[in-house]
Amino acid sequence: MGSPLFATKPLSMLLDEAKGENRLRRVLGPLQLTSLGVGAIIGTGIFVLTGKAAHDVAGPSLMISFVVAGLACIFAALCYSEFASMAPVAGSAYTYAYATLGELFAWIIGWDLILEYAVASSTVAHGWSHYFQDLLGIFGWLHIIPESLRAAPFDYDPKVGHFLATGTLFDLPAIIITALVTIVLVKGIQESASFNTAMVVIKLAVVFMVIGIGVFYVDPANWTPFAPHGWLGVKIFGFTFGQTDAGGQPLGMLAGGAAIFFAYIGFDSISTHSEEAKNPQRDVPIGIIWSLVLCTILYIAVTAVLTGMVPYDQINIDAPVSKAFEHVGLHVVQFFVSAGALAGITSVLLVMMLSQPRVFLAMARDGLLPQSFFGAIHDKFRTPWKSTILTGIFVAIVAALVPLRVLADLVSIGTLFAFLVVCAAVLIMRKTNPKAERPFKAPLMPFTAFAGIALCLLLMFSLPAENWYRLFVWLGLGFLIYFGYGRKHSVLAKLRAEGKL
Ligand code: ALA
Repeated sequence: MGSPLFATKPLSMLLDEAKGENRLRRVLGPLQLTSLGVGAIIGTGIFVLTGKAAHDVAGPSLMISFVVAGLACIFAALCYSEFASMAPVAGSAYTYAYATLGELFAWIIGWDLILEYAVASSTVAHGWSHYFQDLLGIFGWLHIIPESLRAAPFDYDPKVGHFLATGTLFDLPAIIITALVTIVLVKGIQESASFNTAMVVIKLAVVFMVIGIGVFYVDPANWTPFAPHGWLGVKIFGFTFGQTDAGGQPLGMLAGGAAIFFAYIGFDSISTHSEEAKNPQRDVPIGIIWSLVLCTILYIAVTAVLTGMVPYDQINIDAPVSKAFEHVGLHVVQFFVSAGALAGITSVLLVMMLSQPRVFLAMARDGLLPQSFFGAIHDKFRTPWKSTILTGIFVAIVAALVPLRVLADLVSIGTLFAFLVVCAAVLIMRKTNPKAERPFKAPLMPFTAFAGIALCLLLMFSLPAENWYRLFVWLGLGFLIYFGYGRKHSVLAKLRAEGKL
C-alpha cells in the first residue's frame, strides 16, 4: 500500500457515490448545458476588467489577448471534457484530481478552487458595485451612497507603481449584493433552467446590442497604435520580456491576456452539472466547447468595438462598456447596457456562490473538512446553509476591502494553476489507466495537454509577480489545514486502514 497522501479514490467509488440517494435528475441537453456555461462566463470580466486591461496594459491589442486566453481555456476545456466524460459526477477538478493524482493533490485543488469560486465571487461583487453606481449615476442618484462607501480603501496605481489609499472606507454595494445572494442561496434557489435562460438571454442581448450599435461609432484611427506596450509582457523569475509599468508589472498584449483571463472563468462549472446531463459523455464536452467558442468570439467583438469607440487611454476603468456609450452621447443605450450588465453579473455571482459550498460539501464528505459544519444540510431548505453563510461572510469582507484588480489577478493565477493540473492529470490518467472507458477523448494528445500546460504557465508568468507569492501563501495555508485536520479524518484513509479498499 502506497503513502496515504497519494492514495487515489477509485473511479468505481465515484460512480457508486453518484448512484446514491442524492442522485440528481438527468434533464439537461446540449443547449441547456451551453446556456449554463454562458451564464457562468459572461460577467465582470468583459463588462469591467476589459477597461483597465485596455487602458493600462494592452491597448487595442487586447483583442488578440482574448484569443490567447481563449486558446489556453480551449486546451484546458478539452482535458476537462475527457475527465467529465470518464467520471460524470459532481465535484469538478477536485474530484478528478482525487481519482488520478491522489488525496494531497485533490486537497490542493479543492483549496485552490476557493480562489476560483469564493475570491472570484468577491471580484464579481465588486464589478456589480461598479455597474450599480453607474446606473444610479444615470438617474443622478449616486449621492445616496456616501462617497466613502463606494470602493475598497486602497488600489494599485500603475503610474506610480504601488498601492495608494483611495480615501474611502469600504465598498458598501458589494456587501449588500453579497448579503442578498447569500439569503437567496440559503433559502434554496432551484437552479432553475428558466431563470438561467432568462439571464443568458438578457446578457446576450446586451452584448449583441453593444456590438451591433457600437460598430457604427467605431473610428478605426483609435486602433492605432494597436499594441502601445508591445506584444509581450512576461516576467519569469525576475527576467522581463517586454515593457513594464512604474512598479515593474508586465505590460503588453500577453500581459493583457492574463489581465482578462478572469473573463473566461466559469466554463468548467458545466462539468459540475455532469450528473444532471441527459447524455453527459457527449453533451458535457459539447456544452463546454461551444460556450467557450461563443464567448471568445463575442469578447473579441466587444473589445474591438470598445477600443474603436474610445481612444484606449480614455477608456473608463469602472464601467467601460456603458461609459463608451455615454462617450458617444447614447444615454439610452448606456442605460440598457448598465442594467443588462447588472443582471448578467448578478447571475454569475449566484452561480459562483452556489458552487463554493458544493465543493466544500464534496470535501467534507471525503472527511477533508469537518462534516458537521461543511456537510450540514438545512432541515427545511435542504441547502448547505452553514457553509453558504460562511462563504457569504468571506466574500462580503474581501469584496468590501480588497480592490478589484488584485482580486481578479489572484483568482486568475489560482484558476490557471487548477487548469494546469487538470491538463497534467489527463496525461497521467492516460498512462495509469489506459483501458478506462473514455467516451470523449481529447484530440491531438499529448499535444493538447502540453499546449494547455504551456499556455497556462505563460499566462501565470504574465501576471504581476506578487501573485505567485500570494498563491504560495494560500497553498501553504492549505497545507497546514490538510496536515492539521484532513489527513487525520480522511474517509479514504480510514477505509484503506480497515482493509476495505
Ligand atoms: N467569467 C466570470 C466573469 O467574468 C467569472 O464575471
